[in-house]
Amino acid sequence: MSDYEDYGRTAQNYDRTRVPIGLEIVTGSLSAARWPLSGQTVLDAGCGTGSYSRALLGDVGALVLVDANRQALGRAREKLRDAVNTSRVIAAAGDLRALPVATASVHAVMVNQALHHLPPDQDGAFGAVEQVLRECRRVLRTGGTLVIQHCSQEQLRHGGWYLDLIPDAAAEIRRRYVPLDQLVELATSAGFEDPRRFVPLDAVVQGDSYLNGRGPLSSWWRDGDSTWSLASATELDAALARIRELDTRGELNAFVEDRDAPRRRIGQVTFVALTAG
Ligand SMILES: C[S@@+](CC[C@H](N)C(=O)[O-])C[C@H]1O[C@@H](n2cnc3c(N)ncnc32)[C@H](O)[C@@H]1O
Repeated sequence: MSDYEDYGRTAQNYDRTRVPIGLEIVTGSLSAARWPLSGQTVLDAGCGTGSYSRALLGDVGALVLVDANRQALGRAREKLRDAVNTSRVIAAAGDLRALPVATASVHAVMVNQALHHLPPDQDGAFGAVEQVLRECRRVLRTGGTLVIQHCSQEQLRHGGWYLDLIPDAAAEIRRRYVPLDQLVELATSAGFEDPRRFVPLDAVVQGDSYLNGRGPLSSWWRDGDSTWSLASATELDAALARIRELDTRGELNAFVEDRDAPRRRIGQVTFVALTAG
């Protein structure tokens, strides 16, 4: 569920660019708990098209996939079709704020790039994120792990070569991402402890497609980053016109290279791992 992105549509294109990144961070964080990874049941909360679950299927004991969007969940079911609805994989439609998952039934929860789709409060608070964190704590066993893949405010400013081309959309998405320190505070209030942060510096969410300067000219490419769905028609037209102009002048590759420089230093995403206390 998102009040600004039509996942029914973008789910069709999501996997054309998006790749699961930081898997070693997820498995490393889960392995620090007292259960062997191969015996853990992992909830993929806001699973989207299921790429993280599929990537982890061989490493963990069982998976529970939850997403509010039926088209995305349908893709996930298809991707995991050999394992879905066996005792190892369950996929259910549901809201992160009221997870259709029994209390203390999972060893780990991962939330990859989903929290920014929850509506922020009028006063800038993040009550919906708070609700999700409480739900994560409820379904986790004590000592279990919560791994949240999120972005820092700095990563949202400088972690994408095209962000300066759509400044209003970029500002709006920053407003929707709870700042990392606040996220950790909310998680602590919800019953989590021992926060650890990890930044995979060499990984980008759009994989090999990311550095394609002409990428934004295609709507399916733009479906790989929610920021584009927040651009007004006027802002989008201006951004695409600038890309075409740079391309005509033979300057597009240099522009991408130059604007991507900060991202190579700060990374694009941050993982926050916590333990259920
Ligand atoms: C950017 S996608 C990330 C998908 C997947 N975790 C990944 O990283 O590939 C965000 C997903 O969160 C889901 N979502 C957003 N708000 C939700 C909510 N309130 N309850 C359940 N799912 C939600 C969307 O439907 C979408 O599939």
